[in-house]
Amino acid sequence: MTISSDVFRSAMRHLAGHVCLITTCGSDGARNGLTATAVCSVSAEPPTLLCSVFTQTDCRATIQASGSFAVNVLSVADKALADRFASKLRGEERFQAGEWQTLETGSPVLKSALASFDCKLVNSVQVNTHSILIGEIHAVRITQNVEKPLLYSHGGYGEFSRRTPGADTSMQWCPDWDFSADASAGELGD
Ligand SMILES: Cc1cc2nc3c(=O)[nH]c(=O)nc-3n(C[C@H](O)[C@H](O)[C@H](O)COP(=O)(O)O)c2cc1C
Repeated sequence: MTISSDVFRSAMRHLAGHVCLITTCGSDGARNGLTATAVCSVSAEPPTLLCSVFTQTDCRATIQASGSFAVNVLSVADKALADRFASKLRGEERFQAGEWQTLETGSPVLKSALASFDCKLVNSVQVNTHSILIGEIHAVRITQNVEKPLLYSHGGYGEFSRRTPGADTSMQWCPDWDFSADASAGELGD
């Protein structure tokens, strides 16, 4: 059975993803970055992660040229940055909000991020429209920020609530999604 991209997207909407900014800096000092949920831990020894980035983005080319990138895990307080780094703003314009620093590689690290991973690109694999970028982590910054992580599911942002014994668990995570938009679940059968 061939699965259409619409069915694929409808099913993938059920994955609640952490929201990150993938950032990099070219040799000319020009910064670039994008919002991404496709970030995943690979191994602890050596510390390694991967992310999946649309190959046609400016950011992908800059990462290839610089050989490095950072992954910044956003809190709910930085939802506006998630929108900004997925907007029509280009390159440096996206960095005109937020406070930034660098660690080892020179990639931009967001001071208010819950955690930032400063990576050297050690491998990349082209898969259809996307590039899987493997990053060896050379520096980590963890903040004392007590905000909750920003999550994304069903086309909307939400936040995590821990389940507590005895509490009403019917809806502890309340994102601003519209369930009516999720209408194609039935298409998955043979
Ligand atoms: C919540 C969210 C998650 C996203 N996750 C990814 C992702 O994992 N990989 C990706 O390539 N694009 C992802 N995008 C889309 C890019 O952030 C968006 O297309 C961005 O504008 C790309 O940068 P560009 O405009 O410089 O090409 C995501 C967007 C949002 C809002």
